[in-house]
Amino acid sequence: MKIVVLAGGLSPERNVSLSSGAMVCEALRSKGHKVALVDLFFGVEGTDRTVDPFEAPIPQAFKKVSPEAPDLDQVRASRKDTSPSAIGQGVLELCAQADVVYLALHGACGEDGRIQATLDLLGVPYTGSGCLGSAIAMDKDMTKRLVAHKVRTPSWSTVTVTEENLEQLMNDTQLPAVVKPIASGSSIGVTIAHTKDDLRRGLEESIRLGGRTVLEQYVKGREIQVAVLNGKALPSIEIIPQADFYDYANKYQPGAAREVCPAEIPPEWEKKVGDAAVAVFEELGLAVYSRADFIVTEEGEAYFLEINTLPGMTPTSLVPQEAAAVGMDYATLCETIVESSLK
Ligand code: DAL
Ligand code: MG
Repeated sequence: MKIVVLAGGLSPERNVSLSSGAMVCEALRSKGHKVALVDLFFGVEGTDRTVDPFEAPIPQAFKKVSPEAPDLDQVRASRKDTSPSAIGQGVLELCAQADVVYLALHGACGEDGRIQATLDLLGVPYTGSGCLGSAIAMDKDMTKRLVAHKVRTPSWSTVTVTEENLEQLMNDTQLPAVVKPIASGSSIGVTIAHTKDDLRRGLEESIRLGGRTVLEQYVKGREIQVAVLNGKALPSIEIIPQADFYDYANKYQPGAAREVCPAEIPPEWEKKVGDAAVAVFEELGLAVYSRADFIVTEEGEAYFLEINTLPGMTPTSLVPQEAAAVGMDYATLCETIVESSLK
């Protein structure tokens, strides 16, 4: 098959996505497909036009994610094309030549339904969920509203934090709490507030980031994540960060978190998180694959936090580990995602 892997883009998870994209591209080539790795934001800019993109070498440097999220102003400034478009030159032309587009994008413009809608209009099939499910799942408030009647989720409120309401929120927010941007990924911009100082820092960060913020009750427990592949839960994985919480740096530095898959939890917990992951997947009308994140308390109560429609496929990512636990290697997982998306 001719496959375009779309990666990069202009979200704070750009580097994570380039890592996922490079890995997926290599894996699909190893299965005999003709695969081009294309940066959504730069397109063909800066590439050697004499080289067939379906045969161009994969930049190995992409695979490792540096511990800091990229400065997007710098990324923007390094593009010669000064148009405000989030899609670089030649991207849609390349996609139109493909049998399928593999979405290795994370976050804004990739995971939030917009590229899915664009490809729908172009008539090109792509991997994973469609535009509506993707858009809903990217919005933590919408997701919780839609699934709260089916699964337990920590109580929350959604606000736009401003200089004017900051003190009111300082008074009204019960600690401990989690402050999260409504539509971010990889824990970027997330603060776990145990103290008033933490809360102030989190709220000030929300003002800096702009946009809506979810203030969620902090639930103490074990962090368990479950992938759904073709409607069925894979074995769950437990994340045990070596320090602090499973933030951006801990997510992408090999060894910074211990991951246990299958998670060492009682079978009834495994069933509970698996059923909840599938229930959310179905409720939001998702397709092919996803990964749902939970906190499970000492008493075995599973609290759903969020679902990712384009979960990471980097060397430290979790869905590939869950697939490996049922004997599915990385390249077969990628090919299964492609084939299932075309059904
Ligand atoms: N948002 C990151 C890529 C994940 O869920 O794995
Ligand atoms: Mg996420």
